[in-house]
Amino acid sequence: MANNRTFTMIKPDAFGAGNSGAILKMIEEAGFKIVAMKATKLSPEMAGKFYEVHSERPFYAALCAYMSSGPILPVILEKDNAVEDFRKLIGATNPADAAEGTIRKIFATSIEANAVHGSDSDENAAIEGNFFFSQFERVL
Ligand code: TYD
Repeated sequence: MANNRTFTMIKPDAFGAGNSGAILKMIEEAGFKIVAMKATKLSPEMAGKFYEVHSERPFYAALCAYMSSGPILPVILEKDNAVEDFRKLIGATNPADAAEGTIRKIFATSIEANAVHGSDSDENAAIEGNFFFSQFERVL
């Protein structure tokens, strides 16, 4: 069951626009089960830690400012083949390139404000889930 969980966040643009419910509905209708969820807000420092892998990229400072600009909804999801299936459901990083019917195509407003995060590997899904949730805040 190593590949059955992924991690997502509903980002400040989508959360602030009141799209969390519609996005969660799409996620559940695609067969994912919610096993942890909360509303929270990142400090710029915590956003920097979460996106540390991008610290040398030109968009890093703006990304950290954006990701700490408003509330977010971190969520751990469960489904067979979770990481790959969830990346398909959300679509490409840039909504301009995202396939029709994907969450980013429908809800994202720019490559930065792209509505949702999706882990890119099983290993990162576990690391990112542990970044936000203790073992007592998730379904075991
Ligand atoms: P990345 O890991 O490349 O994309 P994804 O979220 O699809 O796995 O980038 C992480 C986030 O960084 C991305 O969701 C939005 C932001 N970002 C920018 O703001 N500008 C950019 O040019 C890129 C590539 C990403």
